[in-house]
Amino acid sequence: MKILKTIEELKQIRKTIKKDKIGFVPTMGALHDGHISLIKRAREENKIVIVSIFLNPTQFLPGEDLDNYPKKDAADIKICEMCKVDYLFMPESSTMYEKEEVLIKAPNKSYILEGASRPGHFDGVLQVVLKLFNLTRPTNAYFGKKDAQQLSLIQQMVRNLFLDINIIPCDIVREKDGLALSSRNVYLNKEQRVQALKISKSLTKAGQLIGKKEFDVKTIKNAMKEVMCDLDIEYIEVVNKNFEPINTVELKNTIILVVARFNSTRLLDNLWV
Ligand code: PAF
Repeated sequence: MKILKTIEELKQIRKTIKKDKIGFVPTMGALHDGHISLIKRAREENKIVIVSIFLNPTQFLPGEDLDNYPKKDAADIKICEMCKVDYLFMPESSTMYEKEEVLIKAPNKSYILEGASRPGHFDGVLQVVLKLFNLTRPTNAYFGKKDAQQLSLIQQMVRNLFLDINIIPCDIVREKDGLALSSRNVYLNKEQRVQALKISKSLTKAGQLIGKKEFDVKTIKNAMKEVMCDLDIEYIEVVNKNFEPINTVELKNTIILVVARFNSTRLLDNLWV
């Protein structure tokens, strides 16, 4: 595996890859089994695999956890080596950004749900993902369904800007007890870790109700709230794949999204039905 730090190095390498399929997995590091599943899938489906580790400052709001975000470069490099990544791109912030930049503006629907809590967050995500796409020019790019709104906006960017890249949505990876994997799980204390299980349990409950043909969103939300009774729920929302809120579940076109807060840690989870 080659570690690349500069744009020039990456451009040089990219020039040498002519026809081979390139799978790309962008990350912010602190790699866990969720990332590993994306990398493994990229490894299976492409001749060349490129992973990026870049803690992107433009997607963090003032006061968010940019400075405390878990950083595990040595462990991340080992994981990428074990997963047989060909190229690991690890640029500095000054390599990726100038002082003043041409900006990408996410559409209005980026200001609901995650975007309502983190206004401007998705502008930063799209900005960096577009830069990384332009540098790597991948055939396939792999994103987790856990960040469902991010995934949907990246799919829209690819459509709207006519990028020739396949976006591959990948299933959520969970701990054995159901907690969705996230780099931010390390912020939880023991008690919060136990409490956090109620998030995935509420989604299991929603899935069971839908299995019994209960499609009314109000009823489903109420049942989920009961499971998460003593949690600080930021939102439970039921949307279609365009991220429009719906009142009745439509099979194969519904995402149930939950965010709960544990002090300053926000945990996201969702169920695609
Ligand atoms: O999902 C993430 O880890 C980040 O938002 C991404 C896509 C790597 C962009 O910084």
